[in-house]
Amino acid sequence: MIANDRLLRALRRQPVDRTPIWLMRQAGRYLPEYRAVRARAGSFLAMAKDPATACEISLQPLRRFPLDAAILFSDILTVPDALGLGLHFAEGEGPRFARPLRDREAISALTADGLEERLSYVAEAVRLIRRELAGRVPLIGFAGSPLTLACYMIEGGSSADFALARAFAFAEPEAFAELLQLLTEATTRYLLMQRRAGADVLMLFDTWGTLFPPRLYRAFALPSLRAIAAGIRQADPEVPLILFGRGTGPWLEELAGLGYDALGLDWTVDLAEARRRVGDRVALQGNLDPAVLLADPAAIEAETERLLTAYAGAPGHVFNLGHGVSPGIDPDRVGFLIDCVARLSAPLHEAA
Ligand code: CP3
Repeated sequence: MIANDRLLRALRRQPVDRTPIWLMRQAGRYLPEYRAVRARAGSFLAMAKDPATACEISLQPLRRFPLDAAILFSDILTVPDALGLGLHFAEGEGPRFARPLRDREAISALTADGLEERLSYVAEAVRLIRRELAGRVPLIGFAGSPLTLACYMIEGGSSADFALARAFAFAEPEAFAELLQLLTEATTRYLLMQRRAGADVLMLFDTWGTLFPPRLYRAFALPSLRAIAAGIRQADPEVPLILFGRGTGPWLEELAGLGYDALGLDWTVDLAEARRRVGDRVALQGNLDPAVLLADPAAIEAETERLLTAYAGAPGHVFNLGHGVSPGIDPDRVGFLIDCVARLSAPLHEAA
């Protein structure tokens, strides 16, 4: 049993006493205690691959703030790493793969055999975090969407436009489809492994899918997202599922029918309008522009109020940012945001 079940209730669109809040990248470089652990560990990947350190980092934001959920400290790119691409993080440059996928042969040679063993450090981190949380708040496990992972695996690292990956989808559509198929299976298994280890909620991050033309998003993103939800539901009908995507404004009606309990929105979508469009088919998570945290407390309070008004205390809203907390944010501003959500949402839920 989980003492604070606001997140679980909101995802099921049940009434709550106040709107639950957690933040993407709530554990990260904006926290001095994170930077201290990273300096000791040497690198981001060393932290993520050591279950005790990953557990410690996951809990850091909860020691500071009354958040309504913890999220596993890891990365979406652990799956391609386990598939043999050789992940490392170059200082100041983001992720890099030693062996990116550049041709059909490289894709045919991939295998998901033994994936769970190679990612057993993640399962161990989930077990440790879950034990440390002792039922106080739910734990969110996560993975990257197949299309977003394919972007990084073909490109070889971060990119503004993932042009190499997009070109590959046009040049080698069959190999691209084969890659998505493999990643769909791998992602489903990876999420189920986290669930078995104790994750209370599972979330999929599709950061880059909508960079593709709509025809390719429809052909490659939607079927893989649907298959993952179906595969998880088959093994575990109860676990709440969240799908976060950037740039999904044009796709909300279709995404609401893929089998997820909630859609995570970036800040380019109007929350009230999104709510009207999805109706009561899914809950919505989001979607404060992270830049508001760089403004001032008055702006944080005003924007929080505006977002809460979109639901006016009705069930089905999880407060979050439209993307992750960025490294330059003052932790006190994050604390102020969390206070605002509690203070401003409680009366709305009481009246609703
Ligand atoms: O949200 C959380 O607190 C949980 C942990 C988490 C991380 N990455 C830790 C991380 C989660 C859920 C992710 C997801 C992730 N990783 C996504 C999808 C969401 C998104 O941000 O769009 C993507 C695209 C990645 C890939 C990735 N990881 C990039 C591009 C980078 C470099 C950019 C950056 O922010 O440094 C990372 C590194 C990373 N992953 C850090 C953290 C805390 C920073 C590492 C550091 O330098 O200390």
